[in-house]
Amino acid sequence: MGFVVASLSRQHPRSTFRCGETELDQWLDRYALQQQNKGLSRTFVLFNEDRPDILAGFYSLTADALSPDTFPEDFARRYPGQYPIPAIRLVRLARHTEFKGQDIGGYLLVSALICSVTASRQIGVAVIVVDAKNASAKSFYEKYGFKAFPDNTMMLWLGINDARRITTLTRPA
Ligand SMILES: CC(C)(COP(=O)(O)OP(=O)(O)OC[C@H]1O[C@@H](n2cnc3c(N)ncnc32)[C@H](O)[C@@H]1OP(=O)(O)O)[C@@H](O)C(=O)NCCC(=O)NCCS
Repeated sequence: MGFVVASLSRQHPRSTFRCGETELDQWLDRYALQQQNKGLSRTFVLFNEDRPDILAGFYSLTADALSPDTFPEDFARRYPGQYPIPAIRLVRLARHTEFKGQDIGGYLLVSALICSVTASRQIGVAVIVVDAKNASAKSFYEKYGFKAFPDNTMMLWLGINDARRITTLTRPA
């Protein structure tokens, strides 16, 4: 049996999750479900069907909108007027330390991009944005084509067309 992605529910073992960043572990354990129930974010968990007692990783998404001024000029030029640019924000993404070296981070990210691309067929989504927690997380996202905002180099964005290209080339099995 293999890895599956599921929408977070009460049955999933949240309290045993350890990714190396305590804040992320605690957020999953204490707040993810609560936030989901209030419509503030939606969380997806990844686990191996052979080991349903432990989560391999998770990610959480919310809707967002950013001023065109936030973006580099060549991108903002495509969106005339001052209307906010609709975005999906990847608010959390983490992999359990027990699953290191198994491409889980990449799997989670591609799954989050697929989710965003799917949503973009129903509602306007121009970009996916993420706040990198540290330099290492930033290089992880850059590997997939995310670019830093000019005025906030720890906040990264990826155009929805690039996300679509990535997801057609690399689909989680
Ligand atoms: C960031 C994180 C999700 C990466 O997960 P991972 O399972 O190690 O990543 P993968 O093994 O799937 O790596 C996917 C690709 O990204 C690369 N990569 C992973 N971590 C990287 C890093 N820190 N810097 C540069 N590239 C990185 C891998 O080399 C791999 O590339 P390849 O396919 O060419 O080999 C994981 O380290 C983590 O959960 N960290 C703690 C929580 C965290 O910081 N989350 C980000 C919050 S903003």
